[in-house]
Amino acid sequence: MTISPTLKLNNGIDIPALGLGVLYSGGDDTVRMVRTAIETGYRLIDTAAAYQNEEQVGEGIRQSGIDRSELFVTTKLFLPDYGYEEALRAFDTSLGKLGLDYLDLYLLHWPVPRTFDATLASWRALEKLLAEGRIRAIGVCNFNPDHLANLIAGSDVIPAINQVELHPYFTQPDVRAANAEHGVLTQAWSPIGGVKRYWAKDPATAHDPLTDPVIAEIASRYGKTTAQIVLRWQIQHGHSVIPKSGRPERIAQNIDIFDFQLTAEEVAAIDALDCNERGGPDPEANDLETIRKRVAAAKA
Ligand SMILES: NC(=O)c1ccc[n+]([C@@H]2O[C@H](COP(=O)([O-])OP(=O)(O)OC[C@H]3O[C@@H](n4cnc5c(N)ncnc54)[C@H](OP(=O)(O)O)[C@@H]3O)[C@@H](O)[C@H]2O)c1
Repeated sequence: MTISPTLKLNNGIDIPALGLGVLYSGGDDTVRMVRTAIETGYRLIDTAAAYQNEEQVGEGIRQSGIDRSELFVTTKLFLPDYGYEEALRAFDTSLGKLGLDYLDLYLLHWPVPRTFDATLASWRALEKLLAEGRIRAIGVCNFNPDHLANLIAGSDVIPAINQVELHPYFTQPDVRAANAEHGVLTQAWSPIGGVKRYWAKDPATAHDPLTDPVIAEIASRYGKTTAQIVLRWQIQHGHSVIPKSGRPERIAQNIDIFDFQLTAEEVAAIDALDCNERGGPDPEANDLETIRKRVAAAKA
């Protein structure tokens, strides 16, 4: 069994460098993948209120039989729940769904640049929960450097993590530099470029880092898969990664990356593939009212 090494957050707590993401999974599939991942050696699980699978994540954890203290569980505040009181309530709901009595990491899922007050009010709620010991660390997702600077200027606690889209075709050097400057750990979502495949009009012709010839050539040198090479590249950059897979063989493959080392030239060759090609939403475009209306319409 491979157990991921850990990274130190700016408040002194340890986070596994590699964990399991559970976006686009639900029902028994989520229960199974979380249990399988923990049995395979994963100790970090990344979910979100928006993924609507927190209950299944909790069930997978319970079925694994692992001691709670060995796990690092992350969830995220859903945008329609932004605001101070709203965030406190949403936290209790998430914790109840997970069936846990504390959380390791709670993240603001997106900045809301046009009404940043709502982002700040939500952050103050996270600060309160942190001070009360109900969360071990708090952080953000998808924050551009100016969002991060504004949050830090308007609050007391510097985020422990900024979880952002990051893969060989979108390496976000400015965001990573701003994170490092503030002591914020960069955590890569879509670390193997999932967003380049599942949102592609035609997955067969998607611009996909896992079929990139440069990465494939490096993979053949080590007898590893392209996914393993990309994850190893992320780890050597000091990023935390949360690859998602629902398949046991890939869950095992994705954590089997701690027995080899890329050379500096190989890391640079993958760095050079960056084409600033975002696959997911642009954080700058987020608008709370539009999102609230969309969620209300979906519920109606
Ligand atoms: N904060 C945010 O805004 C945000 C946004 C997006 C995602 N996230 C988090 O980040 C996690 C990871 O990102 P992601 O799910 O977008 O993308 P990802 O982990 O880069 O890629 C996942 C996709 O790749 C496939 N895959 C997994 N392992 C593979 C392997 N070894 N070889 C080939 N294909 C493989 C998976 O399919 P199978 O399941 O069929 O294996 C899935 O379709 C999410 O699950 C979520 O927890 C956060």
